[in-house]
Amino acid sequence: MKSHVAFIGLGRMGTPMARSLLRAGFPLTVFNRTARRAEPLRGAGATVAGSPAEAASGADVVVTMLSDAAAVASVVTGPEGVLEGAREGTVLLEMSTIGPTAARELAAAAAERGVTVLDAPVSGSVELAEKAALTTVVGGDRDAFERVRPVLGAMTAAQLWLGPSGAGATMKLALNMLIAATTEAIAEGLVLCERAGIERERAYDAIASSAVGSRFVDYKRAAFLTPSDESVAFTLELMQKDLTLALALARDLRVPVPGVAAADQMLTVARALQGDDGDLARVADAVRELARRGGEDAAS
Ligand SMILES: NC(=O)c1ccc[n+]([C@@H]2O[C@H](COP(=O)([O-])OP(=O)(O)OC[C@H]3O[C@@H](n4cnc5c(N)ncnc54)[C@H](OP(=O)(O)O)[C@@H]3O)[C@@H](O)[C@H]2O)c1
Repeated sequence: MKSHVAFIGLGRMGTPMARSLLRAGFPLTVFNRTARRAEPLRGAGATVAGSPAEAASGADVVVTMLSDAAAVASVVTGPEGVLEGAREGTVLLEMSTIGPTAARELAAAAAERGVTVLDAPVSGSVELAEKAALTTVVGGDRDAFERVRPVLGAMTAAQLWLGPSGAGATMKLALNMLIAATTEAIAEGLVLCERAGIERERAYDAIASSAVGSRFVDYKRAAFLTPSDESVAFTLELMQKDLTLALALARDLRVPVPGVAAADQMLTVARALQGDDGDLARVADAVRELARRGGEDAAS
């Protein structure tokens, strides 16, 4: 029999991930803070709960996909939270990006109530979530990981167990360091070509077919080419949240990460110029704008 799953957090990523669970035939109960965002899932066959505790009460597996550690703490350990409703033996798949310290704290709090937490954040964005083609990097009890693998497998194409609690959350920060640095490098290369007179689309296609071509370069094509038209997949604010966690971890471990620090600085510039809710690819617009201003100064 399929596990009963509760899914909490129906944002840009959570909604398509919850849909993947329904498609795979899992009985699903959902909860979202802003209730109207749960309605499309009700229409698709999910039961809508009135609180995280209610959602968790009938579940074998609970999934959280929320903005940050504060949101996860309030949904899991807060009043009417998951731990108030979950039965002993429930597995909580924490799939947001919250970093290893928060992941371990959550696991310790849940263990007192007999709930096992796996940190299982994902790599890939909305497009890959819609195709259930994400990669999840998992930390925590290995047997629990094997037991919930079918649930993870319904939402992701690859499930990688990295080690004990916090290992998945750590790996995810490292992966987003790479995404942030790649975004910054694409932005700089693209704008350099544009300023030199090469058409943006041609330059992007050259990057995509070069040695550094990747799935990320492919699925961000439209966002880099026409940033103002494309819908937002991953906000500048959420990426800077992740780099803040990554920079703190790197400092603790005494790992120098100057490339990531530079990418973080450009996120501050991009948020000032484009707003917090702009897509990550708006970093290129920020570089473009600085180059334009520099060009004007040089001409005057
Ligand atoms: N977008 C991506 O490409 C991507 C890729 C990989 C990983 N991630 C990570 O996945 C997580 C979700 O990202 P997303 O892009 O789906 O974010 P999003 O669209 O902003 O959705 C955030 C979700 O968190 C809920 N939430 C926020 N604060 C809350 C609180 N205090 N209490 C209860 N619920 C709260 C929101 O509820 P409301 O609807 O009520 O606001 C919404 O359901 C983040 O940790 C992000 O870093 C994102």
